[in-house]
Amino acid sequence: MMIEEIKKDFPIFSKSDICYLDSSATSQKPKVVMDAEYSFYESENSNIHRGAYSLSISATEKYDLSRRKVKEFINAKHEEEIIFTKNASESINLVAYSYGLQNLKEDDEILISIMEHHSDLVPWQKVASITKAKLKYMYINEDLEISKEEINEKITDKTKLVCITHVSNVLGVINDVKYVAEIAHKKGAKVLVDASQSVPHFKVDVLDIDADFLVFSSHKMMGPLGVGVLYGKREILNEMEPFLMGGDMIEYVYEDKTTYAALPNKFEAGTPNIAGVIGLGTAIDYINKVGYEYIEKIDRELTSYAIEKLKKLDYITLYLPKDLSKHTSVISFNIKGVHPHDTASILDSKGVCVRSGNHCAQPLLRFMKVDSTVRASFYLYNTKEDVDKLIEALEYAYSMFKKYLKNSK
Ligand code: ALA
Repeated sequence: MMIEEIKKDFPIFSKSDICYLDSSATSQKPKVVMDAEYSFYESENSNIHRGAYSLSISATEKYDLSRRKVKEFINAKHEEEIIFTKNASESINLVAYSYGLQNLKEDDEILISIMEHHSDLVPWQKVASITKAKLKYMYINEDLEISKEEINEKITDKTKLVCITHVSNVLGVINDVKYVAEIAHKKGAKVLVDASQSVPHFKVDVLDIDADFLVFSSHKMMGPLGVGVLYGKREILNEMEPFLMGGDMIEYVYEDKTTYAALPNKFEAGTPNIAGVIGLGTAIDYINKVGYEYIEKIDRELTSYAIEKLKKLDYITLYLPKDLSKHTSVISFNIKGVHPHDTASILDSKGVCVRSGNHCAQPLLRFMKVDSTVRASFYLYNTKEDVDKLIEALEYAYSMFKKYLKNSK
């Protein structure tokens, strides 16, 4: 497949000349995904699980088809193990408020990594403060990795839940979540994997990892905004209390009590984002059509090319793991002595979109003794020309800042 063919699938690139290097924040959407949503609203719009008329039955079937697609996509055993939420954050909150509050108690340990996005950190602080469980961290070593030794040492008999990101949204480091699950299970702990930054880039197999819970967001994998996925093992989800209460998650409602619906409805209160879920199903079709092999190839080529070019700029500090075979598609860096927001603004003036700041991972940056970074992240529609534009824009930014940097010495 040619990169030009891929790019044509994304209307945004024919409407503007942007160099989009912020796919870790949200990916661009192919036309087929937009069309799937549009066509639902245009000719199929109706609510699911509520109508005996054919329009509603067809909407329900399409919604359920997306669940089947997600199940196959991540190799889950059962369809009812797939819960639709509004994003990965909501999926984690569901586990925190339901599984966490139900199962954790004083002196139990919740173990997370220092690489976690705030959405896989703040909910656990809350659960720890309510249950009096302890929140502990696995830290990175000087190679910017969570070592096996760290995993072995931090998972103890007291650990009841381990929550870890599959890929760091700041460093692009791929964590060995399968090993984490193996060690955690030996100690009887459950494991939640935040796959938000991995599912868009490579095949994630929940059975192979043996994750108890796994979460991701549709919008980072070319699907619509406002849809998230929670995978959970059926036997665990069955024991969990619902998180959100309302319509569609009930079996019988009496004046004073309610019995709940079976999975997956128990966790899907209220009218969901039906068009968005259908769009997610189309994004999965699109990934399957392009193939992860191709996506990984593009990721690898662009990331290596960008690293090679960035390394030649002596005014740049790069935050990369030592072992690049455990790294994907995200590069954090700084122009030495320049605030990343200033760098990002100058890059923007040259049409280059990057994220700057703490990337919702303040504890990680504090641990690394870095205030904030510029982050470039790549996806299948990017090209080597995009990397060249980034480099040119950085040269321009540096030429502007250079005189002030010298004066401040
Ligand atoms: N989690 C997204 C990011 O890393 C928003 O940019």
